[in-house]
Amino acid sequence: MNDLHQVRVTVNGREYLRAVEARLLLSDFLRHELGLTGTHVGCEHGVCGACTVLLDGEPVRSCLLLAVQVDGRAVATVEGLARAAGELHPLQEAFWDAHGLQCGFCTPGFLMTLVPFLETHPDPTEDEIRHAISGNLCRCTGYQHIVDAVLLAAQRRRQGSAKG
Ligand code: FES
Ligand code: FES
Repeated sequence: MNDLHQVRVTVNGREYLRAVEARLLLSDFLRHELGLTGTHVGCEHGVCGACTVLLDGEPVRSCLLLAVQVDGRAVATVEGLARAAGELHPLQEAFWDAHGLQCGFCTPGFLMTLVPFLETHPDPTEDEIRHAISGNLCRCTGYQHIVDAVLLAAQRRRQGSAKG
């Protein structure tokens, strides 16, 4: 019989307490224990980036972490991006407008990689964007529309802050 371990974690601003097996992956914890299925699982060994979430604000691959490792920490998933139900985060809106997704399987991982990237790169070059997403695989888009979406989001963000 496997021992259970208490995990107290804040996910998208809400605190959860669960007893889990030591071997439970963070990706499975989010999807199966918390029902947050927006975090996708592709390769399950750190290659595709589909499972990317933020851990204390930094992008991490949730298939390479154990749930017990996030005890006491803060996780953000794609479900927490939009401020209100029925709304999209500005980056999601840009993905929509620039056709940055097709099947959408990879999209949560791209978004969670790019949200902190745009914080530190408000006026990114195409090369910087391509470097930032070099750890995320997409089988549908050919990447150009994703790059266009990030450029659009950055431009809107700069215009928004110029107005404000
Ligand atoms: S599922 Fe985690 S990197 Fe592919
Ligand atoms: S939109 Fe299908 S894998 Fe990226």
